[in-house]
Amino acid sequence: MKILVTGTEGQLARALAARAQFHRGIELVCIGRPNLDLEAPATFAPVLKLIAPDLVVNAAAHTGVDQQEDEAERAFTMNAEAPSALARLTRLSGIPIIQVSTDYVFDGRSARPYVEADLPNPQTVYGRSKLAGEDAVRDGNPDHLIVRTAWVVSRYGRNFVKTMLTAAQSRDRLTVVADQFGNPTEADDLADGILAAANTRRSTGSFPGRLYHLAGQGRASWYELARHVLEVSAPLGGPSAVVEPISSSMWPAKAARPANSELNSDAFQRDFGYRAGDWRARTATLVETLLQDR
Ligand SMILES: NC(=O)c1ccc[n+]([C@@H]2O[C@H](COP(=O)([O-])OP(=O)(O)OC[C@H]3O[C@@H](n4cnc5c(N)ncnc54)[C@H](OP(=O)(O)O)[C@@H]3O)[C@@H](O)[C@H]2O)c1
Repeated sequence: MKILVTGTEGQLARALAARAQFHRGIELVCIGRPNLDLEAPATFAPVLKLIAPDLVVNAAAHTGVDQQEDEAERAFTMNAEAPSALARLTRLSGIPIIQVSTDYVFDGRSARPYVEADLPNPQTVYGRSKLAGEDAVRDGNPDHLIVRTAWVVSRYGRNFVKTMLTAAQSRDRLTVVADQFGNPTEADDLADGILAAANTRRSTGSFPGRLYHLAGQGRASWYELARHVLEVSAPLGGPSAVVEPISSSMWPAKAARPANSELNSDAFQRDFGYRAGDWRARTATLVETLLQDR
């Protein structure tokens, strides 16, 4: 099965490339800018023709949550119009598409983890543009799968775990928001889940459902995640710092994050037999890897 992944340097694109070797019978091709550019939909058809994939995974996106508050048009071009065009083109080629989406489609006011049946109510340009991307893929290609994930961390690209390790190199104390909760998700786990779904599609000829949540097990605040990162790092000789909890109001950001965007991933496990790892264990392994990479 040949899978075309959009983007090359992103966390998920790189994790998919790294994990594909562990999934028998999967050949993966990652293509990004300039050959495949979300802001230039004319680039899509030639790439699809050249690669002739059996499945497309749209892992590329505009992921700058705060930046998008100032560039909504660009956000919708990349996160909604590009998936729309990809969905139409894949339908014309008779191939399925997996669209990756986000916990930020929710407003964060739920007292329990969000399930797929919960109504989205995005509060940011990013969340609205990603939700429009979900709708566009749903409309453009009936043979689709939408996978919402959250708080992605990895050895690749830029992410919160790397930011904390870097910040602790030059500062003794870090203040981190303690009133926003979610599920830290290892990109490798997200990639394994997506590849499990691709395998199911290959063996059964269809996806069992169309919309799933897939995120790391267990809930954390950014503060808890930061503390855990540095508690693992310090005894290994890596950066260490005191982490102090603050409220969101003390860390004003352009885009207001959901207070609780925890996702329930039970349906994904039921239908694809895969569950992402516990965030504490997976983050500990990630920190060890990052320290070794230095
Ligand atoms: N990161 C998170 O915490 C998080 C949380 C929830 C959901 N998600 C979703 O998960 C998916 C993967 O996120 P990620 O963490 O891998 O994001 P990322 O590390 O920020 O990577 C973004 C990817 O998009 C590509 N890209 C950006 N602009 C592009 C353009 N104009 N044309 C083509 N490609 C372009 C980048 O391309 P290059 O290869 O050229 O750099 C990169 O591969 C996205 O759909 C995101 O919305 C992420």
